[in-house]
Amino acid sequence: MLNFDFYNPTQISFGQGSIAKLDRLVPADAKVMLLFGGQSAQRTGTLDEVKAALGGRKVLLFGGVEANPTYEKLMEAVQIAREEKIDFLLAVGGGSVIDGTKFVAAAVPYTDEPWNILLSGGRDIKQALPIGTVLTLAATGSEMNNGSVITRRSLQAKLPFHSDFVFPQFSILDPTKSFTLPERQVANGVVDAFVHVIEQYLTYPVNAPVQDRFAEGLLQTLVEQGPLALSQPDDYEVRANLMWVATLALNGLIGAGVPQDWSTHLIGHELTALYGLDHAQTLAVILPSMMQERRLAKREKLLQYAERVWNLRDGDAEQRIDAAIEQTRAFFESLGVKTRLKDYDLAQAEVETALKQLEEHGMQQLGEHKDIDLAVSRRVLEASL
Ligand code: NZQ
Ligand code: ZN
Repeated sequence: MLNFDFYNPTQISFGQGSIAKLDRLVPADAKVMLLFGGQSAQRTGTLDEVKAALGGRKVLLFGGVEANPTYEKLMEAVQIAREEKIDFLLAVGGGSVIDGTKFVAAAVPYTDEPWNILLSGGRDIKQALPIGTVLTLAATGSEMNNGSVITRRSLQAKLPFHSDFVFPQFSILDPTKSFTLPERQVANGVVDAFVHVIEQYLTYPVNAPVQDRFAEGLLQTLVEQGPLALSQPDDYEVRANLMWVATLALNGLIGAGVPQDWSTHLIGHELTALYGLDHAQTLAVILPSMMQERRLAKREKLLQYAERVWNLRDGDAEQRIDAAIEQTRAFFESLGVKTRLKDYDLAQAEVETALKQLEEHGMQQLGEHKDIDLAVSRRVLEASL
């Protein structure tokens, strides 16, 4: 029986030119910290456009938030925000800048050691600074959700937290801002959004046809639009569809009231923290082996996925499941995202280290049945070599 709370307070302003709306979205008397990444926001002119839209407001710039944002860097922002009595945070970038901004928002008023935000998964956050975002990369859904993933370099740990206090108040989604993305980031975004849908869909049936069909529609849209985003990089409509599908993939809608998996993500986080693979690369490696490993537990949904997403109707059930897994791998490869650990120069020794880190981080009860222990993760990682 479906039984859930659904809460999402983020206002979306979508379309070309929507950065100008910042003027009415950010309080006129706000003292703003504008957070951004390495070079892209400056190079592409997005930063200047944002500054112009903020008009006469007091704005303090904080650049250098890394891909896979680090606690070490973000604590510099926390200190400045406290000293300068910043009362509004504006993220300009992809998931990393937005996630980093969520951490800063929660850490500024946090009275304890801020790493505990990660250790507690965000449960003890009682307040946060208000956040707005200007999205430049369609992938994570962070622009419309309450999650964030932060890396502590000194511990080689990459951990998530969730809190309703860090939902952005608004997010500006101007698809033209994604025209400057390198192919690798476009492809990464398609894979990440695809796996977000899968982690909320490919579990076991609970008679939730609304969530299922929304999820299948998002997957089909990614299969259709993803390759177009690479072959027609200047096509506004393709970029717009991609941006919206990625946002809807992880804004709570398709996950409401249904079982969720997230094991592929949590194993993938260890590979990024240890070896620096892009987030989406880790997902492309782990997901096909995870599907094989879980083919019994996920049998009914795998058959539904095979038929409704990939239109696979021939052969017996086992053949259709095999074909669906192969189609998934081939889709990632067709986007240029490699699906084997060896493609990233990782071998058995690196698998052993990743397993140690999973243990260190308490990741021994993963998946929708909480039965993915270290032995299962070992099989998945070894099958991914
Ligand atoms: O740093 P700069 O120079 O800005 O370059 C960035 C970065 O190197 C570049 N970029 C962004 N927008 C651009 C651009 N380059 C040219 N033109 C543009 N318009 O792209 C690179 C990657 O950016 P990043 O923000 O790291 O990518 P993404 O959006 O994929 O975010 C990945 C992070 O999000 C986390 C991941 O773990 C990872 O740390 N996730 C967050 C989630 C959430 N909050 O709900 C869910 C996801 O599962 C994911 O885990
Ligand atoms: Zn992801």
